[in-house]
Amino acid sequence: MKILAFETSCDDTAVAIVENGTKVLASVRNSQPDHSEWGGVVPELAARLHAENWRKTLEDCLDQANVSLSDIDALAVTQGPGLQTSLLTGTTVTSFLGMLHQKPVIPVHHILGHITSCVLDRKIPGILFPSLVLTVSGGHTSMYLYRDFTDVQLLGTTLDDAAGEAFDKCAKMLGLGYPGGPIVSDLAQKGDRNAYQFPRIFLEKESFDFSFSGLKAAVYREIEKNPLAPLSGEKENKKSQEKNEWENFCADICASFEEAVKDTFLEKIRRAFSAFPDIRQVHFVGGVSANTYLREKFLGFCSEKGIELLVPAQFEYCTDNAAMIASAAYFEYQKNPGILEKGFIEPDPRLQF
Ligand code: KG4
Ligand code: ZN
Repeated sequence: MKILAFETSCDDTAVAIVENGTKVLASVRNSQPDHSEWGGVVPELAARLHAENWRKTLEDCLDQANVSLSDIDALAVTQGPGLQTSLLTGTTVTSFLGMLHQKPVIPVHHILGHITSCVLDRKIPGILFPSLVLTVSGGHTSMYLYRDFTDVQLLGTTLDDAAGEAFDKCAKMLGLGYPGGPIVSDLAQKGDRNAYQFPRIFLEKESFDFSFSGLKAAVYREIEKNPLAPLSGEKENKKSQEKNEWENFCADICASFEEAVKDTFLEKIRRAFSAFPDIRQVHFVGGVSANTYLREKFLGFCSEKGIELLVPAQFEYCTDNAAMIASAAYFEYQKNPGILEKGFIEPDPRLQF
């Protein structure tokens, strides 16, 4: 079964075709670099660019997979959560294509897409249940018990900022650009991970929830103390010695920040292992799962316990992509063939599981 999916929940226009939930025939993403100067995604701009980009992204995807729309068995689309005006392009275009080409449409929850992303380019028997899934991105940070492709139990979620958002804000406070995750993680490699003792918020003893706002505030307080900091947003014009000093400071902040994020996750994984001793695999997914330091540390921790760690098979499946939506749609369809919809799919920015 070939499913063509659209994903337009935030700032990337993505289209993919996936066969039987795992085999990616093509996955195309048109990122929107124009947001960087604003330090975050501007919904109106994102909506305009989705409207401009969807057709070319669709054509590129069909070309890459060397198929036409008549070869597709079903369509899928991210229904939510996300930015209403961004979701609207995906749901409108997919609904329209479904009517025009007489194809059913499967609405998909964005996070279920991330949760399914480890199966892409892998074989289904390689996915072991129950597994612990950490979905960590700019919009969400949650931990799930994954008992089957469509049986997902939420264990905990962030009470304030998502981890990716904390990476983005850390970079923004240091005047380093957007998205902050890759920048902070590159700089962290040059810094001292023990330079600053930032808080690790574990919450109550049994809690699987997360909180990153205290960490963000502690980073802000440390930056604020440095007279070289560009906190007011003006472009700095530093002399070369000050430049070196500032770069070392940024590296230490990023390294200490990343260390605190790592410790926080390891503690939550440890708690999940002791509460659910039958966990057989850990899946680390979402944009932040592209982080090599976190991957390495999670891998070390899981191997010690004899549990396998899976991350998406390609870096491009960590961040938002349409292949994960097509895959999740396939498993939803397997469980409930009645999910196929004909007619208009309404976007739902606050869609619940
Ligand atoms: O999954 P995603 O593309 O979008 C959301 O659904 O939010 O994730 C984007 C997030 C951004 O916050 C970005 O800074 C973060 O993923 N990210 C990273 C890395 N690459 C992307 N965070 C830490 N380390 C990275 N290497
Ligand atoms: Zn996402």
